[in-house]
Amino acid sequence: MFLLPVMLLVFSGGSAEVVNDFLNNCPQYFINSITPTILSGNQYKQICQTLDNIQYYATLYDTDNKIPVYSAYNLAARVQCVRLNKWFIEPQLDNYQGSNMERKGKRVLNNQASNKDYEKSGYDKGHLAPVFHAPSQPCAEATFTLTNAAPQLGSFNIQWYHIVEKNMASTVTDHCIKDTAHIVTGVVPGNIKIKNRVRVPSHFWSAYCCKNQTNHLISGGVIGENSQSSTIVQKTVKDLETDLQNGYSVGSFLLFDNNCRYAAYVPVIPK
Ligand SMILES: *[C@@H]1O[C@H](CO)[C@@H](O)[C@H](O)[C@H]1NC(C)=O
Repeated sequence: MFLLPVMLLVFSGGSAEVVNDFLNNCPQYFINSITPTILSGNQYKQICQTLDNIQYYATLYDTDNKIPVYSAYNLAARVQCVRLNKWFIEPQLDNYQGSNMERKGKRVLNNQASNKDYEKSGYDKGHLAPVFHAPSQPCAEATFTLTNAAPQLGSFNIQWYHIVEKNMASTVTDHCIKDTAHIVTGVVPGNIKIKNRVRVPSHFWSAYCCKNQTNHLISGGVIGENSQSSTIVQKTVKDLETDLQNGYSVGSFLLFDNNCRYAAYVPVIPK
C-alpha cells in the first residue's frame, strides 16, 4: 500500500524535464521571467530539453498535433557542429521514466512523433531550435529531438536556413551585446496531417530580443508559409504576435515581455 507512492515520489523527483513550469526548472531561456504564451489545455507540455543531464533549451510541445508550438533558446557563440542525424524522443511524454531525451528504442509513442511518421511523408524534420545556432557539439545533438521538429517542406527548410537562421545569427552578432539574445522559434498548425498523426504546420516563425551595444532593447521577427516557393515576411514582435494570436485562435499570444514588444525594431534580414 505504501510502497508505490513512495517509489513514484522518488522517481518523479529531481530534474525531470517534462515540467510543470518552465520558470521553476529552466528559467535561463526567458527574459525577465516571462515565458511566451503557454497555451491552455492538457495537450501542451513544457519541456526543459535535457541531454545527458544538461539542459539546452525549452520547448512547448503539443501532444495532440505531435509538433512543438515553439522552442526558446539563447543565441550565444556558435560553433561548427557535426550533424549526427541521430534523433531522440522524450520518454516522459509517453509516461516512460527518464528525464533525458533518448533514442526511441521499443517505446510506444502515443503522445509524440517518431522517425517513422516522417518516413516517405514528403516532409523534412524541420528544426525549431536549429543546429546552426548551437553553441556546442552536445547542444547541436540536443536539437535532434522530435519534440523540437515539425514537418517542413524540403525547399522551405533550405530557405529557412539561408534566409532566417543565417540572418538571425548575423543580426545578433552585429547588434546584440554578447549573451543577451533570446530567440523563440515556432510554428502555426495547418490543416493536414502526415500518417494521420503529425500535424503539418502552415507557417514557421522566429523572433529575437536582445540588448544592443548601447544597452537598449531591440527586437524583430519573421514568418513564412510552409510552401514550395515561400516568401519570408519580416515583422515587428508585436505584429508577429498578432499573427500568432490569429493563427492559434487565442485571445493573445505573447513572445516576450512588454519591453521587448515595444523595443526598437531591428529587422532580422538587413535591407
Ligand atoms: C541601440 O538602440 C537604440 C534604440 O533604437 C538606438 O538609439 C541606438 O543607436 C542603438 N545603438 C547601437 C549601438 O546601435
